[in-house]
Amino acid sequence: MAKKVSLTGIKPTGMPHIGNYFGAIKPALELAEDYESRYFIADYHALNAIKDKEKLKNMTYGVAASWLACGLDPEKSLIYKQSDIPETFELSTILAAFTPKGLMNRAHAYKAKVDENTSKNEDPDANINMGLFTYPILMAADILLFDSDVVPIGKDQQQHLEMTADIAESINNNYKKELFTIPAAKIGSDTQYIVGIDGRKMSSSYDNTIELFLPEKKLRKKIMKIVTNAQSVEEKKDPESCNIFKLYKLFSSEKQQKEIADKYRAGGMAYSYAKQELFEVMNESLKPIREKYEYFMNNKNEIEDILKAGSNKARDLAKKKLKFLRKEIGIININ
Ligand code: TRP
Repeated sequence: MAKKVSLTGIKPTGMPHIGNYFGAIKPALELAEDYESRYFIADYHALNAIKDKEKLKNMTYGVAASWLACGLDPEKSLIYKQSDIPETFELSTILAAFTPKGLMNRAHAYKAKVDENTSKNEDPDANINMGLFTYPILMAADILLFDSDVVPIGKDQQQHLEMTADIAESINNNYKKELFTIPAAKIGSDTQYIVGIDGRKMSSSYDNTIELFLPEKKLRKKIMKIVTNAQSVEEKKDPESCNIFKLYKLFSSEKQQKEIADKYRAGGMAYSYAKQELFEVMNESLKPIREKYEYFMNNKNEIEDILKAGSNKARDLAKKKLKFLRKEIGIININ
């Protein structure tokens, strides 16, 4: 039986951190074992927010290098850039004709901006571009173009997936034919809640992240900033409620965890000691992927070759799908 298709988009707007790795990258890469997996860099989605040419370019290379460094195998999975698949934008036009404006009015990201403007007594649509407004349509095109069965995403993207399914269903109903596969979201579980250096959930919006590819010295410095309680060295401590230990668990064996937990409980251990131990295990785990990341960033032509091969394959699929869709909706295919 043919494998089901798993597809996900990565918006190149920030460098990945430990939370992204355990919450998104690792589970998405694991899906490649059971699904025909497709990963793409949503560079036109990023354009809505990033208007600095160099920044957009660097982020795009950076995100590609990150996923490759973390183990994305281009022989097994398809990796490409959204911007290299022009069929996406044609499909987006088709979908727009079936998308009620009211549906877009309800999209969280747009609504949050409107609410923010309103609370500041500004024009409701101040600083909102049409790209943000129609963001869910472009995302639906990314997904529907490749007949995706499952889409691994974070909870924040769930509404977009529901909208994608709504749009696809209304088109299928209109033509009384299954033109599109209805995709299902695959939401990462909350068990993979990664703590940030301030004790809240690790998130770039809290400025409490540890980036995956920090050079050694910066990694150590970040770890030294992890917030702990004010217990003295002598006091007995509880590992389970300590932010250092929570992160330590992600990078160590059970034996290592037990050793350090015993030191917490015995008293006489300074938090700076636990931080140094965390640095050592984390640095050891991250070193190989950091080196791969640096290799790709110093050999961008290799990233380009991989993306080129991927987009050639993806475009073959996309062209076929578009030709079929055009025929089904009454757009004449001349060639
Ligand atoms: N909107 C997603 C995000 O912000 C990125 C994205 C774009 C995406 N197109 C997609 C994710 C298609 C999954 C499928 O993270």
